[in-house]
Amino acid sequence: MANSEPSEWATSGVDLFLDFRHGSGLRGQIEEGLRDAIRSRRLPQGARLPASRALARDLGVSRGTVLAAYTQLVAEGWIAGHPGSATVVAAESGGWASDDLMRPPREARWRFDLRPGRPDPSSFPRTEWLRALRRALAAAPDRALGYGDTGGRFTLRSELAAYLRRARGLRVTPDNVVVTTGFTQSLNLVALALARTGVTRVAIEEPSMPEHRAIVRAAGHEVVPLTVDGSGARVETLAGHDDVGAVVLTPNRQHPLGVALSARRRAWLLDWARRSGALVVEDDYDGEFRYDTHPIGPLQGLEPGVVAYAGTASKTLAPGLRLGWLAAPRGFLEPLLEEKRLREGQAGVLEQLALAEFLQSGAYDRHVRKMRLRYRHRRDVLLQALGSGPPGLRVAGTAAGLNLLVHLPDAATEQSVLAAARSRGIGIEGLLGGDYYEGDGSAGLIVGYAAPPEHAFAAAVEAIASVLRAVVE
Ligand SMILES: Cc1ncc(COP(=O)(O)O)c(C=O)c1O
Repeated sequence: MANSEPSEWATSGVDLFLDFRHGSGLRGQIEEGLRDAIRSRRLPQGARLPASRALARDLGVSRGTVLAAYTQLVAEGWIAGHPGSATVVAAESGGWASDDLMRPPREARWRFDLRPGRPDPSSFPRTEWLRALRRALAAAPDRALGYGDTGGRFTLRSELAAYLRRARGLRVTPDNVVVTTGFTQSLNLVALALARTGVTRVAIEEPSMPEHRAIVRAAGHEVVPLTVDGSGARVETLAGHDDVGAVVLTPNRQHPLGVALSARRRAWLLDWARRSGALVVEDDYDGEFRYDTHPIGPLQGLEPGVVAYAGTASKTLAPGLRLGWLAAPRGFLEPLLEEKRLREGQAGVLEQLALAEFLQSGAYDRHVRKMRLRYRHRRDVLLQALGSGPPGLRVAGTAAGLNLLVHLPDAATEQSVLAAARSRGIGIEGLLGGDYYEGDGSAGLIVGYAAPPEHAFAAAVEAIASVLRAVVE
């Protein structure tokens, strides 16, 4: 050991970096290496040291040398241990308590989580997902654990294509499905691929999520705002703007206003895109949750050649999974996949395989159908509670999704409602407060009704209804 490199890795159940540049003699070097590790906070209190036999073997010294070093350090109070049990860094070592490091950062915890767009995490189908994961992993060939296809695992693309054709009316085959980590990545990739093809101006609905505008700008585009009225995005304002190379919108349910894009505007937009060569980016973030009317068919099903359709598992399963998908026009696949290849950012293969199995076994459909019923019931309960609120309260965007909109008279009222809600532990967003508008906008409260666990839902509804009763005239 004395002739070895100044630093050595010792592995024996635990991986340990020891700096052997100090101390004299083998035993002295080990002692000083361990003291230094504790002093310099690499080893916190309670950290396990390697067994003496294993450390001796790793360092190529006799076990007696290691034992002598450990005995000395026990006597000095750096480490503690008894024959037969693990040797650990002593609590009184003066080193630092691992808890200081391990404590997770404080998260804002709401008593009632009514923030928009979040599904109920307590309803995640843990058992079915585990079953799918186990089955998928058992059946996967070893090569599935390699780097894989840039577009995503073929099994998943194939299941997604089948699902999207059957349940959402898309015109899609596995080769134009790209697996992503969610809409956020889909939009990033599309924006970058558009820049690659020479596009510089991209229209986005206003109001819309500020992150989405930021993503488009970060790819170098100028954002052209597309205002929204009761029939959805006012796409006709694009007439004469053939320099707009793409339009990003939420036609199924405008976020956050909740209106659907009218049939006339759908036809107009697709016709304009066909003629101008622009790409329509369809964010179908919660299309699975439509309650009162039949699902509205996605734009992609009408005109697959000009629409990049983006879906996500963030609402149907959980945002933490980071799984989404794009169905892109064939002519757009090359720049899209090139951007994806450069940026990596693949969804994990185990999640991909599990989702494929989940779709194939019918568990996805069953889960969506169950949650659709549950969320519809919640929406009804919320509407009833709001109905007993201040007279004239206008509620919109109720036919679908995981949140609805309560229009408020002005910015001051929105601020008062938000402040009162938050002081009662309600997590909730405002239309103006959420930066959905860059220009002038109207005030409103976006009430998410999916996130609270079942047992807390009634109390959450009562809490927000009472805030509205107290604040709104
Ligand atoms: C309008 C809209 N699009 C897309 C998403 C989903 O994003 P992701 O799939 O990256 O989780 C959300 C989630 O909040 C959303 O509100």
